[in-house]
Amino acid sequence: MALDVIILAAGQGTRMKSGKAKVLQEIAGRPMLEHVVRTARGLNADRIAIVVGHQKEAVKANFDTSSRSDLIWVDQNKRLGTGHAARLALEELTTKNSVIILYGDVPMLGIDSLKGCIEEADRGHLGVLVAQVAEPAGLGRILRDSHGFVSGIVEERDASLEQQDISEINTGIIAAPGSLLTELILQIDNRNSQGEYYLTDVVAEAYQRGISVVGVMAENDLEIKGINDMAQLAHAERSFQIMQAQEYMLSGLRLADPERIDVRGSLKFGEDCFLDVNVVIEGDVVLGNNVRVGPGSVIKNSHIGDNCDVNSHTVVDGALVEEGCSLGPFARIRPGSELAKGVKVGNFVETKKTRIGENSKASHLAYLGDAIIGDDVNIGAGTVTCNYDGVEKHKTTIGDRAFVGTNSTLVAPLDLGEGSFVGAGSTVTKDVGLGQLAVGRGKQRNVDGWFRPGSKSD
Ligand code: UD1
Ligand code: CA
Repeated sequence: MALDVIILAAGQGTRMKSGKAKVLQEIAGRPMLEHVVRTARGLNADRIAIVVGHQKEAVKANFDTSSRSDLIWVDQNKRLGTGHAARLALEELTTKNSVIILYGDVPMLGIDSLKGCIEEADRGHLGVLVAQVAEPAGLGRILRDSHGFVSGIVEERDASLEQQDISEINTGIIAAPGSLLTELILQIDNRNSQGEYYLTDVVAEAYQRGISVVGVMAENDLEIKGINDMAQLAHAERSFQIMQAQEYMLSGLRLADPERIDVRGSLKFGEDCFLDVNVVIEGDVVLGNNVRVGPGSVIKNSHIGDNCDVNSHTVVDGALVEEGCSLGPFARIRPGSELAKGVKVGNFVETKKTRIGENSKASHLAYLGDAIIGDDVNIGAGTVTCNYDGVEKHKTTIGDRAFVGTNSTLVAPLDLGEGSFVGAGSTVTKDVGLGQLAVGRGKQRNVDGWFRPGSKSD
C-alpha cells in the first residue's frame, strides 16, 4: 500500500539548553533532522510532511524548499504537543495511504525497524514501535492488558510508581491507515500533567474501539534512542560512529581502532586504505586506493589519490591531492591547494590556493599561498610567499626545476623562471629569468679585532 511519512520537528528542545533548535543539533556532522529525512526517503513514501515551529526558517534552510522538493512543510505555530503536531500534518495530507509518524529527535532509526510498523498499518492495524530497555527513564511506557495486547502508553510524568517499573517503552514511532489515524487523533485531549495533546493517546483510543494495536519490537536498542539533552546527543554520536565504522570495515577499510575514528559527512575509499587512530573526516572525502592516513589527521572536503601517505597530525581541507604524494607530519593543506603526482609537503608547511607540480618538494617549514609552482621544484625550509600587501593578494609563479634556497622571502607579485635558483636567505622582489641565480641578501662582512662586550665591573 502507498505510504505517507510525517516527521515531527517543531519542538524547541528545552532540555538541550542550546540556542539552536534541537533537530538541527548534529550527529556525524549532519543535523538530526537530515538523518530522519534520509530514512523517510528510504521508505519510498508518496509524500513526506515535516512539522516545524521553533526556528522553522533555520530548520528549513537546511533543505531544498523549492517546489521541486519532495518535502511538505507544515507550520505548528503553538507547540501544543505531539498529538497536535501530527493532527496538523494529517489535515494537510488528507490521506487514505498508510501513514508512519517519525520523530525529528529519534535520528538513528533504521528502515528495517520501521517496515514492521508499516506492515501493520497496511493491514488496517495501529503499529507502535516498542523496545525493551534497561533504563526507561524519561520515556513513555507501554501498557498491556491481561491478554498481552497493547492497551495504552503512559508518559513517565503521568505514570504511577508501578507503571514506572515497566521496561517496555514507546520509541515514538506509530503507523496506521491515514483515515483511522485522523479519526483517532481528533478524539484525544490534553488532560495530563503537561496540558499537551499526546500522540501516544491514540493507542488507548484505538484499543477501546477494538482496533488491533500491535507492538512491533525494534531491531536493536541503539537506533531507537531519542535525543533530549547533550549527554544523549554525545552518546548517540558515539553509537552512530561505531555503527558507521562497522559498515566501512565490512566494505574493506582498515581501521586501527573503530572506536577512535570520526566521520562527519561522507567517506568514499578504494582498496587497501588505512586510517590510524583519531582521524577525523569531515564533509565529502574521497580516498583512492592504498591511502594511509596517520594518527590525529583531519581531512575535510578533499580528494586524495592512490598511494598517498598523509602522515600524522596533518590537516587537509578543500584540496585535490593526486597520486603518490606524501603530506606531513604536521602539514596544513588549505582550500584551493592542488598537489600533482609525487609531491612532497613536509612538516610545518602550509599551502593555500596553490598548485604544486609533479614531484616538487617543500619538505619543511614553508608558507605557499596564491602560487603556481611547476614540476621538480625544490622549496627550501623557511620559504614564504609574501602574497598579501595589507590590501590585496598577489600571485607567485615558479617555473619547472627552480630551486628556492632556505629562508627565502618571495615578495609577490613575482615570477621565478624555469630552472632559476634563489640563494638561501634572499628577499626576492624582482622577477628572476630563466636559469638565473638571484641573491638578495646583505653581503657578509667578517670584522677583525672585534671584542665581545665583557661583563660590567665597577
Ligand atoms: C515522546 C513520546 C514518548 C516516547 C519518546 C521517545 C509523546 C507524548 N511522548 O516523548 O512516549 O517514549 O518521545 O523518544 O509523544 N514535537 C512537535 N510539536 C510539539 C511537541 C513535540 O513537533 O508540540 C516534536 C519534537 O520536536 C520532537 C518530537 O515531537 O521531535 C517528540 O517530542 P518530545 O517533546 O521530545 O517528546 P518526548 O518527551 O521525548
Ligand atoms: Ca524526545
